[in-house]
Amino acid sequence: MTNPDTDKAMRVLSGMRPTGKLHLGHLKGVLENWLTLQHDHHCFFFAADWHALTTDYANPEIVKDTIWDMLVDWLAAGLDPEKSVIFIQSEVPEHAELYLLFSFITPLPWLERVPTYKDQIKQLREKDLGTYGFLGYPLLQAADILIYQADAVPVGEDQVPHVELTREVARRFNHLYRKPDQPLFPEPKSLLMPAAKLPGLDGRKMSKSYNNTIEISEDWKVTEKKIKTMPTDPARVRRDDPGTPEKCPVWEFHKVYSTEEERAEVHAGCTSASIGCLDCKGVLLCHLEEELQPIRQKRAEIAAHMDDVRDIVRDGNEKARLVASRTMDKVRRALKMGYRV
Ligand code: TRP
Ligand code: SF4
Repeated sequence: MTNPDTDKAMRVLSGMRPTGKLHLGHLKGVLENWLTLQHDHHCFFFAADWHALTTDYANPEIVKDTIWDMLVDWLAAGLDPEKSVIFIQSEVPEHAELYLLFSFITPLPWLERVPTYKDQIKQLREKDLGTYGFLGYPLLQAADILIYQADAVPVGEDQVPHVELTREVARRFNHLYRKPDQPLFPEPKSLLMPAAKLPGLDGRKMSKSYNNTIEISEDWKVTEKKIKTMPTDPARVRRDDPGTPEKCPVWEFHKVYSTEEERAEVHAGCTSASIGCLDCKGVLLCHLEEELQPIRQKRAEIAAHMDDVRDIVRDGNEKARLVASRTMDKVRRALKMGYRV
C-alpha cells in the first residue's frame, strides 16, 4: 500500500454490517463498486460489528455467526488486502473515543431529524430501538468516517443523510477547536452507489428477509434450482401461452446479465411463445455460472485457509489503528488534553 499521508488520491471509506450471508444484491450493488474504487484510491473497508449491535443488541450471536463469512465473501469477490485496508470496527477502539467526544458537540435535533431514525423505529417494531445507542448510531458512523479523515464514502441512497450529518459534525468540530484556516477534518462527500438494478428472485428488492436471494456462498445446485423455480410472467401457464417479459423478474436478470442479442432473442421468443421459460432461464444460468463459479471456487480456497484470512484482517486492523490513533492525537490536542501523562 502507498502511504495515505503523502499522496493525493482520495481516501475512501465504507462499512458493512455483518448481519447475514452476502447475496448477489451485495455483489452487484456494493462490492463491485468497492472493487472499482480500490484501483485508484486508498480504501478502508470494515465490518461494522458495533453498528450491527445498535439494532441487534439482543442477538449478538448474529455478528459472531456472520462476520467471518462476510469477510471471506469480500475477499472472494476480489477485495485485495494489498490495495485496501480490510478491518473490523471494534478492533479499532478509537472509533468509540471519537464518537464520545463528538457526542458532546452534537445537538440532539441533528440526530432526531435523521430520516432513517423514525423510519427504522417504525419498521423494526419487533426490536426496541428506543435506545440511546440507536439514536446515536449515525454519529458513530460520522466517527468511523472522520477518524480516517476520509474524502469520500460510497453509500446507498438511505445513507446519504448520515454523510451529511458527518459533514456538519466535521464543520462544528473544526469551528470549535481549530483555526478557520486549519480544519482538522475534511468534509467527506457521498459517492452515491446507483440503486440495485437486480431484483430478488420474486421481483422485489433482493433481501434476506424476503427469502428471495442468491447467496454468494451457496452451491451451484441450489442456485440452479432457485432460478428454475423462479416465478415468471403468470400469463405463461402453458408452454404455448405467449408472455410479456416486462412482467417477469427473469427479464430483469437478463437486463443485467445477457447480451443485446440474447435479450432480443429471449424477448421475441417469450412474446411469440416460441421458447419456454426453462429455455429462457437456461441462457441466464450460463451467465450466472460464469460469474459465480469462479468466485465460489476462490471462496472455497480462501475459506480452507482461515488462518490466512485472520492474518489479513489482523494486518488491516493494525493499519487502521495506526491511522486512527494519529487522528486521535490531533483530536486530543485540539481539545487541550495535553495534561494527560
Ligand atoms: N451504516 C451503514 C449501514 O448500515 C454501515 C456503516 C457503518 C458505514 N459505518 C459506516 C457506511 C461508515 C459507510 C461509512 O449500511
Ligand atoms: Fe419470463 Fe423468460 Fe418465461 Fe418470458 S420466457 S415469462 S421472460 S422466464
